[in-house]
Amino acid sequence: ARAALHGRNLILVGLMGAGKSAIGRIIAQQMSLPFIDTDAEIERVSRMTIPELFATYGEEEFRALETRVIERLLRGGPRVVSTGGGAFINERTRAAIQAGGTSLWLKADLEVLWERVSKRDNRPLLKTENPKQTLKNLMDLRYPIYEKADITVQSRDVRKEQVAGDVLSAIL
Ligand code: S3P
Repeated sequence: ARAALHGRNLILVGLMGAGKSAIGRIIAQQMSLPFIDTDAEIERVSRMTIPELFATYGEEEFRALETRVIERLLRGGPRVVSTGGGAFINERTRAAIQAGGTSLWLKADLEVLWERVSKRDNRPLLKTENPKQTLKNLMDLRYPIYEKADITVQSRDVRKEQVAGDVLSAIL
């Protein structure tokens, strides 16, 4: 599978709760490639959590930082890179992702996403009156854009190793 990437990065995109980090970590291990999560990298360089960044600087500043971090990360590689849900939606960041490797959309149904994101309280965009409806609205807005990824794989409600297997088959 590693050869199928031709030395390029594999970049996972998709909504919050799609499993980008969990699946990315498994794939990286199976391909003997380094794994990096762009949100974790943003937290490392800013020494702040994502909710703190949103609260202190706002979404626009967060996006600018996200673009810089992703552009820098994708200059290196090959790696398996999981991105925050909004990365591929931002035009400039999407251009960097499309130029920087093979993009793979982990697509999931609302119930699957909701079941996962509702377990944690770390998504500033879901701090709304009706977070499930907000998630649904984000699906409607973003799915047409995630479609532009090179490959799409359904993130099913099964063991993550199985979804990782689907990803590897899709790359080959
Ligand atoms: C965001 C998704 C988050 C994080 C930030 C914004 C988004 O990443 O980057 O809260 O715009 O969808 P995950 O997709 O890893 O939750």
